[in-house]
Amino acid sequence: MSVSRRSFLQGAAAAAAGTLVAGTSEGMARTKAPGTAIDRERRRSPGGPVVVASGNGLPATAKAAEMILAGRDPLDAVVAGVNIVELDPDDHSVGYGGLPNEDGVVQLDSCVMHGPTHNAGAVAALQNIKTPSRVAQLVMERTDHVLIVGEGALRFAKAHGFREENLLTDAARRQWLKWKEARRGGDWLSPAGAEVEGDDQASASHDVMRGPGGAEFTYGTINCCGLDTSGDLAGVTTTSGLSYKIPGRVGDSPIIGAGLYVDNDVGAAGATGRGEAAILNCGSYTIVELMRQGRTPTEACLELLRRVVAHNVDPRLRRPNGEPDFGLIFYAVRKDGLYGSASIRSGRQFAVNSEGRNRLEDCAYLFEGQHE
Ligand code: GLY
Repeated sequence: MSVSRRSFLQGAAAAAAGTLVAGTSEGMARTKAPGTAIDRERRRSPGGPVVVASGNGLPATAKAAEMILAGRDPLDAVVAGVNIVELDPDDHSVGYGGLPNEDGVVQLDSCVMHGPTHNAGAVAALQNIKTPSRVAQLVMERTDHVLIVGEGALRFAKAHGFREENLLTDAARRQWLKWKEARRGGDWLSPAGAEVEGDDQASASHDVMRGPGGAEFTYGTINCCGLDTSGDLAGVTTTSGLSYKIPGRVGDSPIIGAGLYVDNDVGAAGATGRGEAAILNCGSYTIVELMRQGRTPTEACLELLRRVVAHNVDPRLRRPNGEPDFGLIFYAVRKDGLYGSASIRSGRQFAVNSEGRNRLEDCAYLFEGQHE
């Protein structure tokens, strides 16, 4: 391991000096002496798996931890975990049932990264395949490339036996119609007397907001990173991306270093939320590098978010008080088992499986209030 115990403890001291709220196990330890968090976490996870995911990832963390304990590679484990969410029609941020682009077509992005081989695979703007993360894993394992997009990604998936399927569920189609009908000056009209707000089949994703006409709107995604009992790491990120996006728009989720990064000597990190901000700040790569320098996972995520805020100078993306007018959350797990997550705004949770327990924990955050 290239990060010494001493530098980890220095990182813990820096975290303890932080002023921001952290509801994670790491954050709760901030009231204790510097170093306590690290020592306690090491005692609590003596070689057991640690799996961290976005708030919609509880089934994924449970599945991945179970597979790691059964001796499976951590990449197979986290991909099997997120497959559950990709196949869930009620999660409108990922895979089957994801919200479509502006033409009503579901286009999916995903990437995987494997710590022991420092290899990765990704697909972007992939249509008609329910589990893009599995295609991304095949790009890693069965080509000497990292990223395949669009029609080429679909042909590659079909060559490996994936079946083309319609990914647009009725619920997602109704949200897309609401969005089209709410556009000012457009030709698409809501039925007379239609309800504007809400929908009785709301998405299961925690990242869903309400846009024009009450249509669901999301940058939602699932990220899942796992540490196995040998200290090996892997991660996956998968998404239907920004709702009603320009066809062909690609966010951070298939971009290694933005929506996901793994360094087997240090740790793993991933993102959900506004992908453009994660790309512009090399988010996941930078968090891993901050952990290499001794930051705790939570402090590394918070530091990256502070950079996002400082770089966000476009008035169209700022509130009158200068705060970003979008959501972004990072998740990280370090090679010693310490984990954390931080969000621009309060009230967000992330999924964790460690010490045999699967649960949601509160994300640390920069600003009070939701991003709706
Ligand atoms: N983070 C997902 C996206 O922006 O596409």
